[in-house]
Amino acid sequence: VRPSFTIAIDGPAAAGKGTLSRRIAEAYGFHHLDTGLTYRATAKALLDAGLPLDDEAVAERVALALDLSGLDRNVLSKHEIGEAASKIAVMPAVRRALVEAQRRFALKSPGTVLDGRDIGTVVCPDAPVKLYVTASSEVRARRRFDEIVARGEEADYESIFEDVKRRDARDMGRADSPLKPAEDAHLLDTSEMSIEAAFQAAKTYIDAGLKAN
Ligand code: CDP
Ligand code: CDP
Repeated sequence: VRPSFTIAIDGPAAAGKGTLSRRIAEAYGFHHLDTGLTYRATAKALLDAGLPLDDEAVAERVALALDLSGLDRNVLSKHEIGEAASKIAVMPAVRRALVEAQRRFALKSPGTVLDGRDIGTVVCPDAPVKLYVTASSEVRARRRFDEIVARGEEADYESIFEDVKRRDARDMGRADSPLKPAEDAHLLDTSEMSIEAAFQAAKTYIDAGLKAN
């Protein structure tokens, strides 16, 4: 049997990683892991237990106990959880624990799609297909804005835009596993692409990778 085939998808917030990953997983019958949820679930567990967000040993213990089955973006989508997630994501011990669990997931047969910030660079550096999905910060802020409005909630574009830029700075500026394209990643700028166009572009790279393997 062929070993598991992994597709690594990285990029900044609201670039379209999750949407693209789910579409790919469905089309190819692969398992999908949104690795952002592992950081979010760890952060939520700390918040729920009233534990501090700045104690690396405590956060590591919570990360080691995390169960990857049943991660649900609906219960992890809150803004404060995302903020807390990006704070604990700078801690090397937390990253080590979660990366270990993510690597085990990546081995699932027949194939996997993992999306996050460091999949092609750190989690699965040997992945046969790597995509780096981006879009301008204005477009990404607009997408988040539209999502909130579609839920019938109040949204302020300017503060979302500032938030996107702050999150980018934290993700790209940290010392451990900063967000950046792997050298062998295919760049996909979705600023002016529909979801379907982005999928078709990704499909070309994936089919070439499957053929070569
Ligand atoms: O996972 P990530 O934060 O990178 O982004 P996402 O949640 O997949 O996408 C953010 C929003 O952008 C979603 O509401 C998508 O429907 C939308 N989107 C889009 O309008 N055009 C694309 N090419 C990709 C995503
Ligand atoms: O809220 P947003 O869609 O931007 O991010 P997310 O994918 O839900 O991830 C939440 C936070 O976890 C990010 O801001 C990153 O700091 C962190 N993260 C990471 O460090 N490495 C990953 N592979 C995935 C997420």
